[in-house]
Amino acid sequence: CLDSYYVSDELGFILPEPLVELPPYYQPWMDVAVRVPDLVQSHELRSHIYKMPLLSSEFLQKHRELRLAHLALSVMTMGYVWQEGEKGTVEILPRNLAVPYWEVSQRLGFPPIFTHADGVLANWKKKDPQGPFDMENLELLVSLPGGDSVRGFFMVTLLVELAAVPALRSIPTVINGVRCGETEAVARALEVISQSIQDMTDTLKLMQGMHVEPSVFYGIMRIYLSGWKDNSSMPKGLIYEGVQAEPMEFSGGSAAQSSLLHCFDELLGVKHEEKSAFLTRMRNYMPPAHKKLIQDISLQPSLRSFVQQQANEQLNQAFHLCVTKLLALRNYHINVVSRFITVPAARARQIRNQSQDLQCETISRAPIALEERGTGGSGIMIFLKTVRDKTKDAFLITN
Ligand code: ALA
Repeated sequence: CLDSYYVSDELGFILPEPLVELPPYYQPWMDVAVRVPDLVQSHELRSHIYKMPLLSSEFLQKHRELRLAHLALSVMTMGYVWQEGEKGTVEILPRNLAVPYWEVSQRLGFPPIFTHADGVLANWKKKDPQGPFDMENLELLVSLPGGDSVRGFFMVTLLVELAAVPALRSIPTVINGVRCGETEAVARALEVISQSIQDMTDTLKLMQGMHVEPSVFYGIMRIYLSGWKDNSSMPKGLIYEGVQAEPMEFSGGSAAQSSLLHCFDELLGVKHEEKSAFLTRMRNYMPPAHKKLIQDISLQPSLRSFVQQQANEQLNQAFHLCVTKLLALRNYHINVVSRFITVPAARARQIRNQSQDLQCETISRAPIALEERGTGGSGIMIFLKTVRDKTKDAFLITN
């Protein structure tokens, strides 16, 4: 049963009905949080944050209150750190932000930085509550600089999470089927998973449509998703004032913080070996219950061995199809990354080497530190291709 892992039957890892307001005591946070894009643009966010009162986190009680508080404190923190770009960073996060952020993070088991669980899983609202869960009817609760492209980026990612729900629901069926030796039930559940992974890829295609503008994503948005670990523009990390005197390092946002592919990899027996330090670390950037689900899947009897032992044609094919679809999703993701990062990065380099006149183009404002890195700090293309290639090793050799 997935309930005990905070996984919803309808929404999977998505937080159902995120709160849109905190208790009134926390209004000073929400007032600033909803204005982060504007205040960054006018270079006033830092001064607004200095003026915020130091609030106690003790009046936050429910899980969804803590999630909204973490989301609000996260966008303020990203805006605060990166307001002046990669050359104008800070060493200290002021205590009126740092102390409650730390406390809320501890209570949730989250890191004190903006994560996928904040910006995607807990940052949505339906315009018409009775309306569908789709691009037109969804909006963000808080945002970062980058206008509609931020909405597009987070919402498409949210819809990919939604497309994966049938796959998530089928995981217990696969596990029980393996335990009880039910070949056909396992095969059918794997077919559902394949179709659901296909739907994730089809949904990810929305990213290439009109929802996210590559120059805005590359030139404006990415820095606000990036962190203070494995980032040459924040080499020392960040001091959370009033929490600890030494600086701390935390990775920026990354799709590797989504629990979905971790679950599928564990289920299908995809092994990531030496490059996996990053993937393993990203599990600590997930809601702890979701991390626990991944671990528990990894402890089950091996599906691959079961498929091998059964030597059943339908089961073999279903397993093969699952790995094929997972590989295709990863290939498509690489394609998205080249369009949104590699191509604009090449253009930005070209502009830097040419005349000054071009240097006002949006993409030339992008941070140099993120040219070859993901916002999570990985060497992005090499990392993604290694992970993709490891997926191929999960194929069973059948004759
Ligand atoms: N991880 C994505 C990037 O590198 C968001 O830009």
